[in-house]
Amino acid sequence: MSGSSKAIWEEMNRLVLEIERHDRAYYELDQPLITDAEYDSLFRRLQTLEEEHPELASPHSPTKRVGGKALEQFQKSKHGVPMLSLANALNQEEWQAFDERLHRFLEASPEKEFEYFAELKFDGLSINLTYENGLLTRAATRGDGETGEDVTENIKTIRSIPLKLRTSTPPRKIEIRGEIVLPIESFLELNREQSQRGEKAFANPRNAAAGSLRQLDSKITASRPLTGFFYGVGEVSGFTLPKTISAFEDMLLEWGFPVGNQKRICKGSASVLDFYREIETIRDSLPFEIDGVVVKLNAFSEQQTAGFIARSPRGMIAFKFPPKKSVTLIEDIQVQVGRTGALTPVAIVSPVNVSGVIVKRATLHNQDEIDRKDIRIGDHVVIQRAGDVIPEVVEVLKERRRGDERRFRIPDACPVCGSGVVRAEGEAVSRCSGRNCIAKLKERIKHFAQKDALNIEGLGDKIVDQWVDEGLIKHLHDLYDLTYDDLISLEGFADKSVRKILNAIDASRTPELYRLIFGLGIRHVGETTAKLLALRFKTIGNLSAANRDLLLDVDGVGEEMASSVQDYFSNQEHREELEILLSKIQPVEPKSSGKAQIFEGKTFVLTGTLPNMGRSEAEKIIEDHGGKVSGSVSKKTSFVLAGEEAGSKLEKARSLGVPVIDEAGFQELLRGH
Ligand code: IVH
Repeated sequence: MSGSSKAIWEEMNRLVLEIERHDRAYYELDQPLITDAEYDSLFRRLQTLEEEHPELASPHSPTKRVGGKALEQFQKSKHGVPMLSLANALNQEEWQAFDERLHRFLEASPEKEFEYFAELKFDGLSINLTYENGLLTRAATRGDGETGEDVTENIKTIRSIPLKLRTSTPPRKIEIRGEIVLPIESFLELNREQSQRGEKAFANPRNAAAGSLRQLDSKITASRPLTGFFYGVGEVSGFTLPKTISAFEDMLLEWGFPVGNQKRICKGSASVLDFYREIETIRDSLPFEIDGVVVKLNAFSEQQTAGFIARSPRGMIAFKFPPKKSVTLIEDIQVQVGRTGALTPVAIVSPVNVSGVIVKRATLHNQDEIDRKDIRIGDHVVIQRAGDVIPEVVEVLKERRRGDERRFRIPDACPVCGSGVVRAEGEAVSRCSGRNCIAKLKERIKHFAQKDALNIEGLGDKIVDQWVDEGLIKHLHDLYDLTYDDLISLEGFADKSVRKILNAIDASRTPELYRLIFGLGIRHVGETTAKLLALRFKTIGNLSAANRDLLLDVDGVGEEMASSVQDYFSNQEHREELEILLSKIQPVEPKSSGKAQIFEGKTFVLTGTLPNMGRSEAEKIIEDHGGKVSGSVSKKTSFVLAGEEAGSKLEKARSLGVPVIDEAGFQELLRGH
């Protein structure tokens, strides 16, 4: 290694350690030591060094946490030691039966109180992490217990999971097992985003966690706030495990793993029962979902003596809580038409209380789901509520059928406008093909008017329905032509309320650009993406003209999203509608810095360390003056701003004849203005 490589390598190592320290402070201790901007700048510096010197980059660098290239498919991964399952106890009797069985099996006197370790049963998906010499080398889903799917890249994006064990004496090899979960708040937020993008909501946090982890594109996983809880061990070599599970978990915590903090060493069966009841009372206040407690003989040696029955350890049991489910009757099935024309079948059920909430409707998702579960009108069904989402039908009680139940099919014609319903190849969703479907129009207006979009205060669902039903609005842009006279005669309106809502509509005529982009309801484009697009393209005109490469160049925009933006703007109807809309409202460009835009149209590439200026500082100056910063040098690069120890980018600039300036030259450019 040359002297300068060594210095760079050392800097990279320093950055890795520092970023890890801040990750711990932020994710584990909830006490950030630096601002987000400072963290970003450390992170970017490391990314730049790794880009410039890929040969020096560590495969365990925290930069791997942002996700990498998408995979074609997951590789299979065989577990070192199989991942088994747990037997269940569904009530107190079954728990006591387990304890008694264990006494008989281990030939213990009935008075003996076993030392149990009781903890939460996390409702997520199980994962097997392999660490070799302290480094995370593989992560696999459970699969069939013998072989799972290799999701290493995705797991690396979960910041609470250590890429490196925090110990100076790591095992040669160890498999650490736990559960990946999505906190309930994050799940609800994700579903809000899904529906804003016109996509299907996840049924519960566990499905959302599984869907987020099993993404071929690890960047998507990186954007989902997954976390995990660790409790178990598989293969171990070159290491002596502690004697008990409780001590093992303490060690996991020291090594940097998140472990549950509700756990107890219980002496005897009654003490376990107390723990179970306590946890049941706090269950709903936990930030993540659990479906019971897991009780384990605390000593590994006793576990071993107890052995296995079928595919479960005899010394452990899942003591489950009764599920949040209820039985009710499907009175009818209706079809809802969404903003993108998606038809969703919804069961209208006899009102029923499901863990404190009165449920009257339950989603049936789509025709395939109805067929798979064989759901009919008149059926008694089990419905379940997860988080705060719309409940769903989990199961039909076929034994309660009387023969007069009716099958249901999604109609061939839209129930609202009568247009044909189409189901694209490979999609589960059927959509209304009608151009003027008022159901779509209503949903589009509701989306357009919502707080995060054009924020038209007071324009709620009922009013939108009324205005569309009355024929006052036939297109989105008709909103802006409504007059006092149009509204004053409507039911529910009087002088004051008419003025108020007209004012609110008027106030939305100069929306920030991202609000309009989001409000248009382009599939897959949520509020966050809309902000990124607005920042990048500055006007609707630029956005609608952007080619695929430009769109894909925006952080967070993937193939699907790029296609859907392009589809949106290539649709003649959308173009016409937008043109009229833009004659009535004027989106304001993203806030400009107020600085002279002297670098407009110029692209800079930064390399090396500047003597007096931080990298992010230089980037900000360039962007504030209208310029762009890019990561790689090409013929289109206007300037390469090079500092000390500039790497391959400098050479490339020279070979392409791109002007190279140093910090002083950069200052001159700025002053020269
Ligand atoms: S111990 C032999 N502890 O529940 C498997 N499992 O229903 C030993 N689970 O496959 C697992 N929380 O994915 C254990 N605290 C916990 C758990 C837990 C959730 C999952 C795990 C297991 C499933 C069995």
